Amino acid sequence: MFITFEGIEGSGKSTQLRLVAEKFPSAVATKEPGGTPVSDRIRAILLDGTSVIDPIAELLLFAASRRQHVVEVIRPTIERGGIVLCDRFTDATLAYQGFGRLLDLDKLRALNDWATDALRPDLTLIYDLPEEVGLHRARSRNATAAEDEGRFEAEDLRFHRRVREGYLALAEAEPKRFAVVDADGTIEEVFARTMETLTRRLPRLAA
Ligand code: TYD
Repeated sequence: MFITFEGIEGSGKSTQLRLVAEKFPSAVATKEPGGTPVSDRIRAILLDGTSVIDPIAELLLFAASRRQHVVEVIRPTIERGGIVLCDRFTDATLAYQGFGRLLDLDKLRALNDWATDALRPDLTLIYDLPEEVGLHRARSRNATAAEDEGRFEAEDLRFHRRVREGYLALAEAEPKRFAVVDADGTIEEVFARTMETLTRRLPRLAA
């Protein structure tokens, strides 16, 4: 079983993933970009606030990181019947590089399919909230974080609005795979919504 967690910066998806992982201790919790030693090195390049990266070079780095992650971690876990909880996946490329950076969506879809052998999550949760709220949360977190991961957070509000709208458009186009979770609320409130969504959409998981 393969479940992905998506949303704009500050949507709280990573916190929710951690809480879900506590409920399912046998699940493999992982994230993109990252999740393998090679992918983590690519992640460091991608998130370094001092890198100036061409949008297509950036796209290909995400795809390279993802390929390694699928081959080393995601596919083997699914094949042995395990649960993978993944923080961002192919939909992040469509939302950020497609709707955000305005790269061609058909090319991105083809690249995603190539990098993953057309692997699709069983369920994708989109943590939705207004971009102003998300960015405010993300920026106050970054101000206190030791690590500077601000390259995407430095993008302007219009970029994040496009990303948010992109996620919602993806969800609307494929309602069977996506569930939109209202991310405006306390951690506990959003977690209650998350568990309700998981049990409704994936009854096998709760069984
Ligand atoms: P991360 O620190 O994981 O941010 P967050 O906690 O918000 O997920 O950084 C990942 C960043 O990379 C995030 O800004 C989204 C971006 N990203 C893309 O642009 N395309 C992608 O395909 C992926 C996986 C992430």
